[in-house]
Amino acid sequence: METKSKKIYVETYGCQMNVADTEVVLSVLNEIGYTPTKEAANADLILVNTCSVRDNAELRAHQRVSELKEHKRRNPEVLIGILGCMAERLRTTLVEKNNLVDLVVGPDEYRKLPKLIEDAYAGQRGIAVKLSRVENYDDITPLRTEGISAWLSVMRGCDKFCTFCVVPFTRGRERSRSLKSVIEEVHKLSAQGFKEVTLLGQNVNSYHDGEYDFADLLRSAAEADSTMRIRYMTSHPQDMSDKLIETIAVHKNICKYVHLPVQSGSNRILKLMNRTYTVEHYLGLMQKIKQAIPEASFSTDIMAGFPTETNEDHAMTLEILKEVRFDGAFMFKYSPRESTKAWDMGDDVTEELKVERLNEIIELQNGIAFDINQTLIGKEVEVLIERDSSRSADDLLGRTDTNKKTLFPRENGAVGEIRSVKIERANAQTLFGTLVPSMN
Ligand code: 5AD
Ligand code: SF4
Repeated sequence: METKSKKIYVETYGCQMNVADTEVVLSVLNEIGYTPTKEAANADLILVNTCSVRDNAELRAHQRVSELKEHKRRNPEVLIGILGCMAERLRTTLVEKNNLVDLVVGPDEYRKLPKLIEDAYAGQRGIAVKLSRVENYDDITPLRTEGISAWLSVMRGCDKFCTFCVVPFTRGRERSRSLKSVIEEVHKLSAQGFKEVTLLGQNVNSYHDGEYDFADLLRSAAEADSTMRIRYMTSHPQDMSDKLIETIAVHKNICKYVHLPVQSGSNRILKLMNRTYTVEHYLGLMQKIKQAIPEASFSTDIMAGFPTETNEDHAMTLEILKEVRFDGAFMFKYSPRESTKAWDMGDDVTEELKVERLNEIIELQNGIAFDINQTLIGKEVEVLIERDSSRSADDLLGRTDTNKKTLFPRENGAVGEIRSVKIERANAQTLFGTLVPSMN
């Protein structure tokens, strides 16, 4: 008997791990007949994959659930569910107290979705929020959206316990997939025509499958298809080994882009954050990477207003930005998270001061990124053409191996090609140029 295919609509917030998890969820649900839709209004099942790293992500998800509830009011048959990092926190407020959603499923419980959906249709609320020490969805092939760039999750969880961060509580302990299974997936992606793969983990360079470390994994991925670009994120300075730096240096198709969160330029604050390195160690590491990979570009994460941060600490953060000269940075205000150690330290930097410090950080960093990008004007860079520009139908968007967004008129360029672009102008975020005619 033929059953009508059901539609699923998912909204994803937060980091790339969540984006990759959504693809796992779509794959699990595809098995029971659900196909994705881009319109919430057409959906039988609406899921919101949440993030709880910072407060605004949490607020936004709350708001969205209330808005999406509208579809259920119109059609009571529609199921609404919460996935991801907020599941555990929200189960009380959203399900038990306010009766807002039908399903709440944590990041390690996605295999249970079919059963939970069945229960929900039977009128039972489906809740599964346990964390696992072993779940890594090794055998589930994510349902990827077509494109040229694929996310590939290689490890889950985090054991670092930075005092500000909720991830070890929401995503649980570190666990890695086997190198063999990851590389098999790289081969599949290559056969499907993907041109770039990003190996993902909350703490990707502490990957270890019991036999192989992250450098081994990167090397094997690079050798699996030498025409495919290999990226990875996010790294922790503590696990940036010499072997790993060497591996990135010697493989042409491992992108020369290093994202290494520093968080603060003050040793006192780094200690309170439990970051396990000092400013001196971080600078030494940067020096080493720059020497081994002179063409590399760098980015970082910076946080303003961690508990007890003084004007002097903040000045040291500005100093490290000037010293390293990152190509880019993700810059945040500290946001206290329940269950973390920093939560108990109070939140003594006023909102006003946090905003002021963050703005100073952003202004300085944007100036540095702008200056670095100006040095590329007149040069030719190689880009992988990723997609049409969202701003103009006549332009294409590509990315350099150093992860710089590059916009140029379409001419004879096509998505998926690796082409040279001559840079004509640049701002802090984007390079602008024209395609260099290809030889063939
Ligand atoms: N407040 C603000 N920023 C945070 N991050 C993690 N936790 C918090 C928090 N509680 C930032 C860090 C991390 C990035 C992913 O998010 O800079 O590197
Ligand atoms: Fe959070 Fe620190 Fe782990 Fe990154 S390394 S996920 S910031 S605890």
